[in-house]
Amino acid sequence: MTGITSAGEKRLVVCSGRAYPQLAQEVARELHTEVLPTTAYDFANGEIYIRFQESVRGADAFVIQSHTAPINTWLMEQLIMVDALKRASAKRITVVAPFYPYARQDKKHQGREPISARLIADLFAAAGADRLMSVDLHTAQSQGFFDGPVDHLWAMPVLIDYVKTRVHGDLTMVSPDAGRIKVAERWANKLGGCPLAFVHKTRDITQPNVSVANRVVGDVKGRTCILVDDLIDTGGTIAEATKQLLKEGAKEVLVAATHGVFSPPAVQRLSECGAREVIVTDTLPITPDKQFPQLTILPIAPLLANAISAVFDDGSVTALFD
Ligand code: R5P
Repeated sequence: MTGITSAGEKRLVVCSGRAYPQLAQEVARELHTEVLPTTAYDFANGEIYIRFQESVRGADAFVIQSHTAPINTWLMEQLIMVDALKRASAKRITVVAPFYPYARQDKKHQGREPISARLIADLFAAAGADRLMSVDLHTAQSQGFFDGPVDHLWAMPVLIDYVKTRVHGDLTMVSPDAGRIKVAERWANKLGGCPLAFVHKTRDITQPNVSVANRVVGDVKGRTCILVDDLIDTGGTIAEATKQLLKEGAKEVLVAATHGVFSPPAVQRLSECGAREVIVTDTLPITPDKQFPQLTILPIAPLLANAISAVFDDGSVTALFD
């Protein structure tokens, strides 16, 4: 039977949706187990069918889904998996959504808008999730949308260990907008207290994916700039910020982001913006058509596996980041 049994007959079960099965397999490998064999297919009308091929009664189940496009399908699949686990008497169900779907829609900018990130948390709870695990939520306070434990993991240790090997000389940490300065500050502290800068970015909220980098606030002339963001979607934010930094005299720009969504035309924008390197993790699948010469992809599976292991053993997830 798949799963880890330890003292007290606890059984850890890793379940995977179909969005990015390789990620779940890597996590399972790190945990010295296997992904629970599952039957999953679509009916002719688009409805999804799920059945776990082994008993999950009493299991501590971790349901991994990577919310890439088509995101609504993969979300629905994960909800159905949680429902199946609940009805099959799993003891505890953790939704593992390394990239939290709809994370950016976490507040109303104008009247008559939804708060979709909250709705997603409600859907997970309604399906039967006991807890959530995610990496670099768009805003940390979204944890409060789910009325239960949320393990909010940071990709920063994974990214920073690599970035340290790629830079030297005068560094400046740069936030691509005012909202991410706290994150840039955390990075700066880890990099020995280098100076901070941010890009004054504006968006037209009536249009999706349109942003303008107006100017840079901070000292970037002649310096190696590390531009850090939670996610890169169409690449507009990062490409515009990179070009502005170079225009204002930065020696070079490295980009580090947790989630490589890479919706078109991200590949073109990122490969042509002048960044020396663009570093992301694989919380989302980065298919060959989304890859370009300056791109480096770092594995997120070890971090997820360590966090899952800590949760299963009632250990500390926080300690992973101390
Ligand atoms: C914005 O607040 C986010 O942190 C990202 O900077 C943004 O969503 C990225 O989108 P795009 O790559 O389409 O500019």
